Amino acid sequence: MIGFSRADQTLVCDGVPLSAIAEAEGTPVYVYSAAVLRERYRAIDGAFGRHPHRLHYALKANSTLAVARTLRELGSGADANSIWEIELARKAGFSTADIVFTGVGKSPAELECAVPLGLKAINVESVGELARVEEIAARLGMTARVALRVNPDIDAKSHPHISTGLKINKFGIPIDEVRALFKTIGSRPALKLVAVHVHIGSQVTSTEPLARSAALVADLVAELRDVNARQARGAGAGPVALEYVDLGGGLGISYDGRTMPTVAEYVTALLNAVAPTGLPIVIEPGRAIVGPSGTLVARVIDLKPRNADSQFAVLDAGMAELMRPALYNAYHAVEPVSLRAGSETQYELVGPICESADVVARDRLLTPLEVGDLVAIRDAGAYGSAMASNYNRHPLPAEVLVDNGQWRVIRRRQTIDDMTALES
Ligand SMILES: Cc1ncc(COP(=O)(O)O)c(C=O)c1O
Repeated sequence: MIGFSRADQTLVCDGVPLSAIAEAEGTPVYVYSAAVLRERYRAIDGAFGRHPHRLHYALKANSTLAVARTLRELGSGADANSIWEIELARKAGFSTADIVFTGVGKSPAELECAVPLGLKAINVESVGELARVEEIAARLGMTARVALRVNPDIDAKSHPHISTGLKINKFGIPIDEVRALFKTIGSRPALKLVAVHVHIGSQVTSTEPLARSAALVADLVAELRDVNARQARGAGAGPVALEYVDLGGGLGISYDGRTMPTVAEYVTALLNAVAPTGLPIVIEPGRAIVGPSGTLVARVIDLKPRNADSQFAVLDAGMAELMRPALYNAYHAVEPVSLRAGSETQYELVGPICESADVVARDRLLTPLEVGDLVAIRDAGAYGSAMASNYNRHPLPAEVLVDNGQWRVIRRRQTIDDMTALES
């Protein structure tokens, strides 16, 4: 059995006891299963069957080098959200032709660096950004490959903080502006439009909005082809031959055991929507690949009464290491690494940070905990270490990758010297 399971009452990752890793590396520590990473990537990749496609792993979910390298070795491309994620991707061995540059706020300095790289595409988020890319490309005497990110005004029905597809969200270009660009972009020699792109949010738990946004992209592709046909008859801009459609990421995972769309249902929904275009599909999955591959192992450092029904269990990991519960009220399953005998007790599992929002898990029934016990915060592979901070001067936690029954540190724990190295 791959991933996290119980053997002799104690949690293991691909056969390696989490307690052994915690003993050697201390806590808090992120532990990832390479086998789960591979299995999740291959499941999505395989679901496309023979339809031409490419996965561009969304580095924002987890950009630790060894994780990125593992995905590159499987054949993934990269979705980078800043020039620094592009640099990270290159360090992980991705070629620039395998990187798409997404992100709602690309600074002039980032664009100056990115345009000459010849990326697979810069996924442009506004008419102004397109003009800025064009100006740089023209100055350099080159043609920039761009995708237009459309804002489809579709509700992903995810948490409002991670829904990106509504008109009121800051993301993408309004549909009418995309239509207008279709008419002129062919006459802008410094730009090559290679794709139409959409991404409506993360942790999307139904295929319906994903299918609807993919269908909208397919409609836009058809409209662009009409524009091409009309312009071929007249003396308008040159024809635009799209190379692919980019349908973003967003597939949710089950944090609490609730049923989620399967990978097959997700991919079928996308394929049905865009197959009529005949174009290859690019997707940018993050969470669905890396989320279930990671567990944050923490230690109970204090216990105290909360109310008549429950106790506080204070952990050595909290919102500095895993921000999701504080940021989105997100649910993560938590379980003791080793189970003690005794009846289940209700715990409020909290972090050590000086914020009342620093609650890792509310009202959980667990077998009895004692100070010093280890707990596993599950499904923490995505938006966990990537969003960690030094708040309260917590060092970034160590990260460990388990591969083929062996484990190794892929990022050592930060020290106070690392933290203050940039300060004077
Ligand atoms: C443009 C874009 N692509 C891909 C992703 C990855 O999303 P997820 O991790 O939900 O698959 C995101 C994250 O929100 C994103 O903004």
